[in-house]
Amino acid sequence: MKGNTDMAVEKAIVLAGGAGTRLYPMTAVGSKQLLPVYNKPMIYYSISTLMLLGIRKFLVITTPLDIDRFKALLGDGTKWKIEISYASQSAPRGIAEALIIGREFQARDSLVLMLGDNIFYGKLDRIRQAFKSFKDGALVFGYPVKNPSRYGVLGFGPDGRVESIEEKPREPKSRYAVPGLYIYDSTAPERAASLDPSGRGELEITDLNKGYLVQGQLEATLLGRGMAWLDAGTFMSLLDATRFIEAVESRQGLMIGCVEEVAIKQGLIKTGEDYERMVESIPSGPYRSYVEMVWREMSART
Ligand code: G1P
Repeated sequence: MKGNTDMAVEKAIVLAGGAGTRLYPMTAVGSKQLLPVYNKPMIYYSISTLMLLGIRKFLVITTPLDIDRFKALLGDGTKWKIEISYASQSAPRGIAEALIIGREFQARDSLVLMLGDNIFYGKLDRIRQAFKSFKDGALVFGYPVKNPSRYGVLGFGPDGRVESIEEKPREPKSRYAVPGLYIYDSTAPERAASLDPSGRGELEITDLNKGYLVQGQLEATLLGRGMAWLDAGTFMSLLDATRFIEAVESRQGLMIGCVEEVAIKQGLIKTGEDYERMVESIPSGPYRSYVEMVWREMSART
């Protein structure tokens, strides 16, 4: 492994493509992942979570129409001391296509693929551990939900090992949905390229995962209490996510998904100079005041 020997996975693709049809007309002229979840653009949540998990190199994949907006919002990551590059997905041909598009970015490394409309909050220890110990094959997570039929769903054998993974099954084999956060070895792009499009014309991520499963190369880490997994791809789930973030933030006075806060607390922004460069483009207002408070508190401690 290169770089930080503690980390098995250092790169992530954040997929912010798709037509966002379930959120029309809010997505008629712009990307779903730029819509607000309470007080931040949706993609802030995935980027900041991945930063908390130690990821420093990002490839954001979005539509040709939205790519300049994402670049305007996130830049090349320098201000947060991370690296962000961009690629476009010309048509919504499925989540697995992101791995084909990201082939050069991945190179020979393992990488994380995260959907830009998935939000994680709370105890990330199990995910962190999975990132650290990943070696090869593929790793997915399982998270218990009330209505698994909306998602990819895991099925388990008597020994507790994953036996099946099905996309939006009418009769789910368990309550464990598969969140949009996956780890893949360097064989993933090749495997994705050999998939056939599904009935909805997409390269399904579940089909890619099934390929790993039949070869005995799919691991699943189960998540549960102590953390929230939300997705924000429908009217209700977007509203639920907004309500959730608002409730926690209003109670604690602490933000969720504030990229600047994570950059400061992860030790990426250390000097006054770096801090000034980061905040110079943030206009006065509640967001800037919050970042200023975080910096003041951190500086007082060191
Ligand atoms: C996609 C995946 C599904 C996964 C979900 C997580 O579904 O196909 O397996 O559980 O993301 O958000 P979609 O949002 O495209 O319906």
